[in-house]
Amino acid sequence: MSDDTIAWMNELTAEMEERRKRIERGGGEARIKKQHDANKMTARERIDYLLDEGSFVELGVFTEHLGGDMMKGVEAPGEGVVAGYGQIDGRTVFIFSQDFTVLGGSLGKMHAQKIAKVMDLAVKTGAPIIGLNDSAGARIQEGVDSLSGYGEVFYRNAIYSGVVPQISAILGPCAGGAVYSPAITDFVLMSRGSSYMFITGPEVIKSVTKEEVSFEELGGADVHNRKSGVAHLEAEGDQAVLELIRELLSYLPQSAKEKPPLLNSRDPVNRETPEVLSIVHPDQRRPYHMHEVIKVMVDDQHFFEIQPEFAKNIICGFAHLGGQSVGIVANNPRFMAGTLNIDASDKAARFIRTCDCFNIPILTFVDVTGFLPGVAQEHSGIIRHGAKMLYAYAEASVPKITLITRKSYGGAYLAMNSRDMGADVVLAWPTSAVAVMGAEGAANIIYRREINSSDNPEAIRAAKIAEYKKNFDNPYSAAARGYIDDVIDPKDTRRQLIRHLRMLSDKTESRPYKKHGNIPL
Ligand code: HXC
Repeated sequence: MSDDTIAWMNELTAEMEERRKRIERGGGEARIKKQHDANKMTARERIDYLLDEGSFVELGVFTEHLGGDMMKGVEAPGEGVVAGYGQIDGRTVFIFSQDFTVLGGSLGKMHAQKIAKVMDLAVKTGAPIIGLNDSAGARIQEGVDSLSGYGEVFYRNAIYSGVVPQISAILGPCAGGAVYSPAITDFVLMSRGSSYMFITGPEVIKSVTKEEVSFEELGGADVHNRKSGVAHLEAEGDQAVLELIRELLSYLPQSAKEKPPLLNSRDPVNRETPEVLSIVHPDQRRPYHMHEVIKVMVDDQHFFEIQPEFAKNIICGFAHLGGQSVGIVANNPRFMAGTLNIDASDKAARFIRTCDCFNIPILTFVDVTGFLPGVAQEHSGIIRHGAKMLYAYAEASVPKITLITRKSYGGAYLAMNSRDMGADVVLAWPTSAVAVMGAEGAANIIYRREINSSDNPEAIRAAKIAEYKKNFDNPYSAAARGYIDDVIDPKDTRRQLIRHLRMLSDKTESRPYKKHGNIPL
């Protein structure tokens, strides 16, 4: 090749590099400083922190905005979003990271198409898609084109739901209809103090309802992790949120076609668990933290809880047992006596379906007296919400193991994955009791006439309660009828759970043909 040609080639390459560098500078130094001053990383810093070092490959670098009258002369380096793929713990993930320094990370049509492209590739190749959201919403200058862009993303969120894991981190504003993309994904994580999500902001609310509320009070991490149940996890600052994403992925497969990765755990499979004897009191009225029971059972006592601050009467989360990723659903007698209410039913049903989508076996720890009684619960639709749990358990075809630690009564017995709702293996501790209701309530109903007509009603009542307890308030009448497969020594629980999990590892279960089921929503 001639020197002239080489010089020409070098010139073109230099120009390409210059263009690339300009794009990588995003909205420029002043806006990057503003981002840092707000304790936020830039879009590229977030990607670099999240992915394995040097693994990021960018796509759509030179994308430009759509144009139009209101965008004349406006520069939008990278179209306000950085997109591509890379590795986390050596496994491929696709990623997009909105760049708030470019027009506030606002979403225009081409910005959306960059996101849609990596979502399509994630599904074609079978790998998770991670969205790092930090955006002022629809790009106002692009009008309906930006709304159409959102449509492209929402459509894919829905169609790809259950195909590959979709994870959304909210690391800045997320307002208006824009919240619906994260809301359709499997997991929403928020950074405390620097992120918020709402449909209509404080100004609009003030003008319509006269309520005065701050951004944080309206839709900060606190609200969505404690009250609304919109978010699944929260952490202090961007880095901590990104670290949670890395850990979350370790429990998930790459796609619905795969199983989650097996870990090499050093925690002995046969480890005895005598600690539980001092956690769970045989007296059913004595509360305990089910978390402590879970931690004793799982590998390295490590439990990764999902929605830990929302509906604390039920516990959902991931762990490994004998190296196998499992989803755990458990009543927590420490909160509201572990009863099931509307929020708990929603939380558990969603988690059960997430596990089922991604081939994660479900372990259910039961200690439940029933659904929460109350007019407010009934009027707000506990029937509809509780039905979600029943539906989700029945629908789930992954391995399902149930352990009854103490009481399991009534409709809640069924809702907590009983034998008839499709549990593959049901185990119980000697402390457990399966019945329509507790002994006192039952005796008062079925022996009312005898109690009321007696000269000594209290003595009769006590005798009848004792009689009922003897007959039903134990695991053996349920075990005798095949509803419980074995009553086990609590010390032997870990070994038993792992043994059954391994037995079920190649489980298949088919369902009758349908387009899709119709879960009560
Ligand atoms: C285009 C926008 C923008 C928008 C902000 N910017 N919002 N550009 N479209 N929606 C630009 C600003 O002009 C500014 O540009 C830069 O982004 C940063 O904005 P600031 O206001 O300086 O930042 P800050 O003070 O941190 O405030 C952030 C904010 C505020 C609270 C998000 O910008 C804001 O309220 N924006 C409007 C939000 C909104 O109403 N979006 C539409 C929602 S409706 P320069 O050049 O100065 O850096 C919607 C519908 C979606 O999203 C429907 C989907 C179905």
